Amino acid sequence: MAALSSLSRFLPKKMQNTVDAYLEALELLAEVKDARVLSALAPAGIRGLLLHRGKQGVPTQMPATHSAHFDWTYPSDQPEMAELYQRAKTGQWTSEQLPWNTNVDPENPEVQILPEKFLDFTKLEARGIHLNDREKQRLLADMATWMLSQFLHGEQGALFAAAQVTEAVQFFDGKLYGATQVMDEGRHVEVFNRYLDTKLNKLYQINDNLFVIIDSLMSDGRWDMKFLGMQIMVEGLALGAFSTLYKQTEEPLLKELLKMVIQDEARHVHYGVCALREHITKTISQREREEREDWAFEVALLMRNRFMAYEVYDEWFSGGKLSRAEWRQFAQETPGMQMFRQVMFSRLVPNLREIGLMTDRILPRYEEVGLMQYFDGRAADKITAAEMLSDAA
Ligand SMILES: [Fe+2]
Ligand SMILES: [Fe+2]
Repeated sequence: MAALSSLSRFLPKKMQNTVDAYLEALELLAEVKDARVLSALAPAGIRGLLLHRGKQGVPTQMPATHSAHFDWTYPSDQPEMAELYQRAKTGQWTSEQLPWNTNVDPENPEVQILPEKFLDFTKLEARGIHLNDREKQRLLADMATWMLSQFLHGEQGALFAAAQVTEAVQFFDGKLYGATQVMDEGRHVEVFNRYLDTKLNKLYQINDNLFVIIDSLMSDGRWDMKFLGMQIMVEGLALGAFSTLYKQTEEPLLKELLKMVIQDEARHVHYGVCALREHITKTISQREREEREDWAFEVALLMRNRFMAYEVYDEWFSGGKLSRAEWRQFAQETPGMQMFRQVMFSRLVPNLREIGLMTDRILPRYEEVGLMQYFDGRAADKITAAEMLSDAA
């Protein structure tokens, strides 16, 4: 594959970019070493990365195969989940509480949605791309819009996954709690959509890699895989991104919106840790645990390496002076994205440890990719939403 990618530089830029996109998709499939993990991810990978199913402009149908778990005895079985349910009920808020009358101008340098330091423009200049101040503001605003669009798409996935998990989970207290999460995710879809639609007037399509993760967990019949995928991985990713944006934005409406969403998400990840710890350490076999351990590692890598805002690149630079591969390097090295990855993994890795998916068997692989530095952090059940916000502030 390396030989192919170096050969591709003899092609015209536009073809180089097409080859690069295919090679990246193939690389994902080649990277996944475990056959069971590959069979779980590959069909979604083909639908997302090669067929671009999320970008066809028509609704996507994803078959779901889980079974709904009924219990006619209504047990009080999980005090920690019951407590979360109580907290979730009193923590409800409405979108009308947000200051929607705020005037938002994404290109106003006085009130930046993302600060200039988020992108390292000198790296673009080194590649011969010189943007004036106005263009810099616009690119920053587009990056923010891209992130918020991905949040919105992720929230749609979270809404459906929360509904599925509420049906499928075996803990009765978990079902009641789950009902509040469905409501929370519905509200998140509402507020992100409203912000994009009325303040930024723009929506980016779903990133192919985010599509792959959502597709793979929606169509997986095992509730704990949905849980692991959505409550731990995608919610971990979202919390990392929300916190980065919350910390960096100067725009008051967005800051308030993110603050409210982060408080909800803190409960969601807490629930994920609580339910999976119980299930993974007590219920499933060693073989099943290993499969989940490998799956989580692969998805963590996918999240680290692959959210590169190609949709922004396509709009700004494709066919121009910058190749897709050069953009990838820029996005990987740019300070805002590095911070996002750091916040994301400092939350995610301790959660994986806590639910029993970081045993000695897998640790060397995390070590190899530089993620072990986050191992000793606090898991979501030990951090309050207030602490998450003040960490990020
Ligand atoms: Fe959410
Ligand atoms: Fe959530």
